[in-house]
Amino acid sequence: MTETIRNFVVFEGGDGSGTTTQLSLLERRFRGNAMGLVFHPTCEPTDGPVGALIRSVLEKKIALHPLALARLFAADRAEHLYGPGGIIERSGRGELVVSDRYVLSSLVYQGIECGDELPRTLNAPFPAPELLLFFDLDPQTACERLKNRPALELYEHLEFQQKVREKYLSLIGEYQKSGGRVEIIDASKSQEEAAAEVWRVILKMPILKTGR
Ligand code: TYD
Repeated sequence: MTETIRNFVVFEGGDGSGTTTQLSLLERRFRGNAMGLVFHPTCEPTDGPVGALIRSVLEKKIALHPLALARLFAADRAEHLYGPGGIIERSGRGELVVSDRYVLSSLVYQGIECGDELPRTLNAPFPAPELLLFFDLDPQTACERLKNRPALELYEHLEFQQKVREKYLSLIGEYQKSGGRVEIIDASKSQEEAAAEVWRVILKMPILKTGR
């Protein structure tokens, strides 16, 4: 496995699995009690210029070939990691950085669309997080939850989401075998129960035990 970034956590899961909600609940918990830490929630696609371009593809405002989109996700990630105020800079100075999606999203989603080789090659140089939380939810329930949204994005349909879950499960097995640390969160539970599970896992991180 590639190098690991300390103090960096990633949330992964299919669309509708609640990663975004859980990240804001975690942020709220840290706001209540920062425990001497700076907590930095972030996400991919980012809100930078490449992320904005990706968002307009996801919202179906513009169309791009999957081979081009795979490269944009990797470019957005490089800026997210190495750019000013990015993951490397913040985690390096002792902040706890938690990202809603990272490399595994590309290996799963672009892997389905483009085949495994390109996303693997584009993402091989990126370092691994200290910890990955996978929010596991059956795609049928996830799609029911998505129905409450004002508009469905590019990948938000049942047939694709079934492939997404299958691929996550197989790649997570591979990732664990190569030494990656993963915790599986049962996303079928209530928001509060899932948040409590997330909190239990986060509390075990060395940065929270030593205060830095
Ligand atoms: P998501 O993170 O679910 O945010 P929101 O629902 O708030 O818009 O949406 C991002 C979408 O982009 C999701 O369908 C997964 C997809 N995606 C990829 O295909 N590859 C990637 O590398 C990343 C980071 C996301």
